[in-house]
Order: sequence, then C-alpha cells, then structure tokens
Amino acid sequence: MTNITLTIIKPDAVKDGHAGAILDQITKAGFCVKALKLKQLSAVEAGQFYAVHKERPFYNDLVNYMCSGPVMPAILEKDNAVADFRVLIGATNPANADAGTIRKNFGKSIESNAIHGSDSDENAAIEGAFFFAGLEVC
Ligand code: CMP
Repeated sequence: MTNITLTIIKPDAVKDGHAGAILDQITKAGFCVKALKLKQLSAVEAGQFYAVHKERPFYNDLVNYMCSGPVMPAILEKDNAVADFRVLIGATNPANADAGTIRKNFGKSIESNAIHGSDSDENAAIEGAFFFAGLEVC
C-alpha cells in the first residue's frame, strides 16, 4: 500500500465546469493535492495512457473522447489512496455508481464518466510519472 493515486478529471466534466466541485469533493474526503494541471492530450498521448485497453472494442472511442477537450490530471495523497479513491469515485459506469460518488454526481455514461482513478499502487506510480515531472510534484 502506498499513499499516492493519480486521477484525471475528464473532458466533459472540465467542459461543463465541474472541476471545482469535483476537487472540492476530493479534498473534503481527505485527499491532499500534490500536483495538478490542465492538459490537452493528443491522440498519441491518450492512446499511450490507455494502452492497457488497446485490444478492447471501446479503445478508439475512449482515445477520441479523452482528447476531445482539456483534462485535469492530479496526483493525490492520502493513507490507502488507491482503494479509498476508488470508493469515492464509484463504479466505472455512473448508472451503477453509489449515490454521492463522483461518477454518480457528475458522470454521464461509461465513457464520459467524469473521472479516472488508478487501479493499483504500481499503476499510480506509472500514471503519475506519465503526467508530471518530479519538479511538478509538491
Ligand atoms: P477509466 O477508469 O478512466 O479507465 C478506462 C476507461 O475506459 C473507463 O474509465 C471508462 O471510461 C472506459 N470504459 C470502460 N469500459 C467501457 C466500455 N464497456 N465502453 C466504453 N468505455 C469503457
């Protein structure tokens, strides 16, 4: 267990003006923001980030969606960060997410599900390094 996870506030949530409310919910849940930026991903960058899903039928749509507008990646710190953050964001499909979770509050569909959260400590480290250089992390 480490105390770091990587999140991305996705294009629709940024476009619709929900980034502030989402960050408020994240910090009120006890997560500390260690790094944060606004970033327009290219198709190549989005494809690299989601390379693990390359063989899935939704991969091309997912890549196109993730570069349809700016995203807000952030590194977050909290004890048991990966598992606690996945509880806070809820199920991948907002339709199945518990009431009060970020995806239930702000997600529109399984693709446009408002927010990403790392699924393991190992991937949190890889994903954090994908978006942020060491000097950008407090
Ligand atoms: P995320 O947590 O960012 O990780 C991979 C993303 O792929 C996931 O959120 C969803 O947005 C998307 N995804 C997963 N399953 C499907 C699916 N069946 N159809 C479309 N998109 C999906």
